[in-house]
Amino acid sequence: MHRTDFLVIGSGIAGLSFALKVAQLGSVAVVTKRQGIDSNTAWAQGGISCVTDEEDSFDLHVADTLDAGVGLCDESVVRTIVSEGPERIQELIDYGVDFDHHEVDGEQVISLGREGGHSVRRILHSRDTTGREIEKKLLAAARAEPKITLFEHHYAIDLITTSKLGLATENRCVGIYALDEKEGEVVNFRSDRVVLATGGSGKVYLYTSNPDVATGDGVAMAWRAGVEVENMEFIQFHPTVLYHPKETSFLISEALRGEGGVLLGDDGEPFMSKYDERNDLAPRDIVARAIDTEMKRTGSRCVFLDMRHHSKAFLEDRFPNIFQTCVDHGVDPSKEPIPVVPAAHYQCGGVNTDINGMTSLKGLYAIGEVACTGLHGANRLASNSLLEGAVLAHRAAEYLKAKMPVDRTVSDIDLPKWQRGDAEDVDELVVIYHNWDEIRRLMWDYVSIVRTDKRLQRAATRLANLKREVHEFYWNFKITGDLLELRNLVDVAGLIVESARLRQESRGLHYTLDHPDKLTELRDTILTRY
Ligand code: SIN
Repeated sequence: MHRTDFLVIGSGIAGLSFALKVAQLGSVAVVTKRQGIDSNTAWAQGGISCVTDEEDSFDLHVADTLDAGVGLCDESVVRTIVSEGPERIQELIDYGVDFDHHEVDGEQVISLGREGGHSVRRILHSRDTTGREIEKKLLAAARAEPKITLFEHHYAIDLITTSKLGLATENRCVGIYALDEKEGEVVNFRSDRVVLATGGSGKVYLYTSNPDVATGDGVAMAWRAGVEVENMEFIQFHPTVLYHPKETSFLISEALRGEGGVLLGDDGEPFMSKYDERNDLAPRDIVARAIDTEMKRTGSRCVFLDMRHHSKAFLEDRFPNIFQTCVDHGVDPSKEPIPVVPAAHYQCGGVNTDINGMTSLKGLYAIGEVACTGLHGANRLASNSLLEGAVLAHRAAEYLKAKMPVDRTVSDIDLPKWQRGDAEDVDELVVIYHNWDEIRRLMWDYVSIVRTDKRLQRAATRLANLKREVHEFYWNFKITGDLLELRNLVDVAGLIVESARLRQESRGLHYTLDHPDKLTELRDTILTRY
């Protein structure tokens, strides 16, 4: 059993920033299921939004965020996150993050990009691989910090609570079970401060811009432990992922539309003016829905993003990764429009937390995409997520610092060893892969950009059967990383469908043909398993 003052699950911007901040207070274990670098953060292209320019203001950033969130953002949370942004950006710069600059009157100033829903340029970026730059710098700092131990290839299985242990104390989280994949054994991590920073759940869908690690692990574990989960119906679909048979997850950043990119239909004509006066820079829910409508109307398999108004030199310099990837797949963006389709991109709901990352379970915190703080409401404003990860990591660390030393009544608890009787090796791996594909396809067909009551009902019925099969598998066979991810996917898919069925209106990212209007009442969808 590993004992640690702080246990962090996940190694993206939120998890690593938090770990670095609390390392001055005690020992920190960071548990991550692949290598440290394998996180959603590392795949973020566009950048991090923050007010850094004198033409901009906190009020403007707050207003844009509220507008994108269609009535469901918590304004005080939005204001706190937006106004604490500049200090967090400075910290990232201090860790060596190299945001792009340009020269004005002999002075270097930060270059700012623009994305949908932002009324001004406010996105700090590092070419088109901003997340990778942030991830690399934070990971290097964490590896150099003696108080932090990084447990790579460790899959978190479940949260351990005092109620699960049958202890007659107030229910709280006291650690986790995790699969050490290299050793093939289950180990315990014992801690009074457990932080979920596991990112999102894009892999629930057949098409996604997310990396393979995005299987909703934190939400699923929290849910199974009886923690409140909020607004899971709001899954953001990014309007533009490269359409190519061999490359189904490559994002074509919204920053391209920020530099004047225009969406064209199958007939080569721009279409966004039919849908929103902000044209190609309307918020993402609107653009993704417009593309979906155009594809259904014309029967086309994709639409196109036209960047031909820029020179090859500009595109290669500003978007080197995107430019090269397109060229590698036979498309030169300076000469021809890029074929694009929408794909699942961001989970706006998640584990319900307050502004310090505190969940409904004592001892458990959630930060970053796994959490629902109230920042995003019904639709996330582009590039607000890295900002939220950095700010919430700081706030959770400060909150815990103020509470040290915490209530010690549970500290002597020992965790029982993992008991799974005579579990056998999985004999039919094909069943796991089949179920995995089935979940992702049915979520794509029935629960994506446009929903109906009937599609949601079908999805719920199929998922109930799949859940039974997967959980049977889980109890009868030796666990593997694939089986753990499948179990989490089926639980999270169920939460998305249940939340979507409860929202009988169309708002932000939840659009249903059966209830096309917004209700006047504003409410969040909160699910709890007792
Ligand atoms: C993008 O680069 O378009 C993604 C930015 C984001 O999702 O915030």
